[in-house]
Amino acid sequence: MKFPQSGRAPAELLSQLQATKGQDVPWQEGKVFAYVYDAGPEAMQLLGDAFTLYMTENGLDPTSFPSCMVLEKEVIAMAMDLVNADPNGTGTFTGGGTESILLSLKTARDHARDQKPHIKQPEIVLPVTAHAAFFKACQYFDLTPVTVEVDDNFRAIPEKMDAAITDNTILMVGSAPSYAHGAIDPIEAMGQVALKHDILFHVDCCVGGMYLPFAKQLGYDIPNFDMGVPGVTQLSMDFHKWGYAAKGASCVLYNDANLRRYQIFSHSNWTGYTVINPGVTSTKSGGPVAACWAILNHLGLEGYHRLVDASQKATQKLLNALEGIPGLRAMGDPKTNLIALEATDFNIFPLADEMKERGWYIQPQFSYANSAENLHLSIGYHNVEQMDAFIADLTELTAKVRQQQQSVEATPLPEAILAMLEDATPATLGQLAGVLGIDPANPPERMEEINILLNNISADSREVLLGEFVNQLYMPA
Ligand SMILES: Cc1ncc(COP(=O)(O)O)c(C=O)c1O
Repeated sequence: MKFPQSGRAPAELLSQLQATKGQDVPWQEGKVFAYVYDAGPEAMQLLGDAFTLYMTENGLDPTSFPSCMVLEKEVIAMAMDLVNADPNGTGTFTGGGTESILLSLKTARDHARDQKPHIKQPEIVLPVTAHAAFFKACQYFDLTPVTVEVDDNFRAIPEKMDAAITDNTILMVGSAPSYAHGAIDPIEAMGQVALKHDILFHVDCCVGGMYLPFAKQLGYDIPNFDMGVPGVTQLSMDFHKWGYAAKGASCVLYNDANLRRYQIFSHSNWTGYTVINPGVTSTKSGGPVAACWAILNHLGLEGYHRLVDASQKATQKLLNALEGIPGLRAMGDPKTNLIALEATDFNIFPLADEMKERGWYIQPQFSYANSAENLHLSIGYHNVEQMDAFIADLTELTAKVRQQQQSVEATPLPEAILAMLEDATPATLGQLAGVLGIDPANPPERMEEINILLNNISADSREVLLGEFVNQLYMPA
């Protein structure tokens, strides 16, 4: 595509953008159980208005845009209050959970360089259920991840975490809850392990920070998980998930404000202005923080209680219904609105495709460690009205897929293709895609065959294949 020679009218461009959106999952109907958080039309309008009001303001410079800083400080104070942080602690507003986690681990690394200089190759101890963002941080900051198995309910095992800690360990990770199964790690017992070894302890509350506090206040069975737990030093929580904020809104919090010093990048050794960035980015729109500030104040405790209670009840409805759906069950012991559905006696991937044909989006997850392949649901306020219809389709289509698989002989796995996939390199992927008839620019509607293949190769090979797939997918138009 060539750079446009002459400009086009706003109305024409906006209508083109509107039409382009038509390719996306139709989240507005509440049939998408991932990616989108919608607290209703009034909240959406407010987010849009607040975001637009601050779109051009630049949070890079608090002396020129002190209002962005004030909004950020208020948002951080509200978050600290919610998760019982030390009132003398501090935090930073970031663009997402991944940025919060990157910053936390960069802080831990630089803290160790300063305070424990004998550590030459720092290690991070984390359960296999910890979010991929921690591995990204390890990759970026040259840290060694040490993964530890989890129990049958996908919760970290404090004794095993303890045993994995060495003289090189600088930080341990727990999730509240984990994304994949919604499992809340035993944060109190893990805090004791962290204290015993004098290491930092990060609780990943990216998906739970704006949910668990409200669920606990409402009386749901939620164990202690937050910054009030002895041993917890830092925590990430996202506003752009169950905070129903506009995307680009998360934070990393520290119980000890001194720790945050290690997070800040400060550079004067160049010809330009001194750059001092608490976060990864430098220039940052005031839009996300303004929209976040607005939604927190608009909903307040009462509003979030309403949203969380509705989500908990809809989740319970699904869990009850599962008892009447032969072959399907929830994995682990979910306490919140994140559910992983496992098939006990059939292959689950075709069910995702069947549900998609009826307009439902649920997220396939591959098998890994002690977790079987499954379909993941995040059940939010926007899904509540659809729960009865969802259950009806899930019941019908599970029976259909199960019956189909029982009535036809199972196709044997294509061992030759699996072996090729296992050995694939980015360079040979093009040929493989040809053999499989896959065009990265035009992925097939039904993903079951691809998912089954990917589920049957190693996670390392999946990384190579999907990494290259995305590399090809994003080739310029
Ligand atoms: C537990 C957990 N941690 C971290 C993240 C990463 O957050 P983000 O996608 O905002 O970078 C997620 C995202 O779902 C999550 O569920």
